[in-house]
Amino acid sequence: MAMIKKTVEKAIVHQIKNEEHSTRLYLAMASWCQVKGYPGAAAFLYKQTDEERMHMLKFVHYLNDRGGHSLLLALDDPTAEYKSLTDLFEKVLKHEEFITAEINKLYEVALNEKDYTTGSFLQWFITEQIEEESTVHGILDKMKLAGKDSGGLFLIDKELSALAAAKGAATAAPAGE
Ligand code: FEO
Repeated sequence: MAMIKKTVEKAIVHQIKNEEHSTRLYLAMASWCQVKGYPGAAAFLYKQTDEERMHMLKFVHYLNDRGGHSLLLALDDPTAEYKSLTDLFEKVLKHEEFITAEINKLYEVALNEKDYTTGSFLQWFITEQIEEESTVHGILDKMKLAGKDSGGLFLIDKELSALAAAKGAATAAPAGE
């Protein structure tokens, strides 16, 4: 297999940064939820930080395996203040939409360089982004239905706790990446 081109390498290093930022952003959000009394949402986001770290590592290993060098870049502080739980999840959705756009850009760089190996590696992330966006859309729809009703939010928080437990089961499975 040919050594990875510099342009693709640079784009992957940038995506490693994006995924590492995602782990810190969701960790800051999980901490906010825990402090504000949303244990289910906190559990969900703590699982999410682990998933983002797994995404980051996938890129790190892939680039090094292809003869590149996975470098870590400086990161901005993650935002840590939210108006409400709904506000926080709206920011999760915005962030995932940004990541989807970044993955698409990376895919374009790979195809422009005729690096079909990287293109096929990125397929997993393209599918993962569809799933992540759809999960967060689902959560937000329920939150909007509940409105400011604290009983409704309490139930949603419980559901998020179940969702976090299901994620745990999925990541524990041998093929569950
Ligand atoms: Fe690594 Fe949530 O995308």
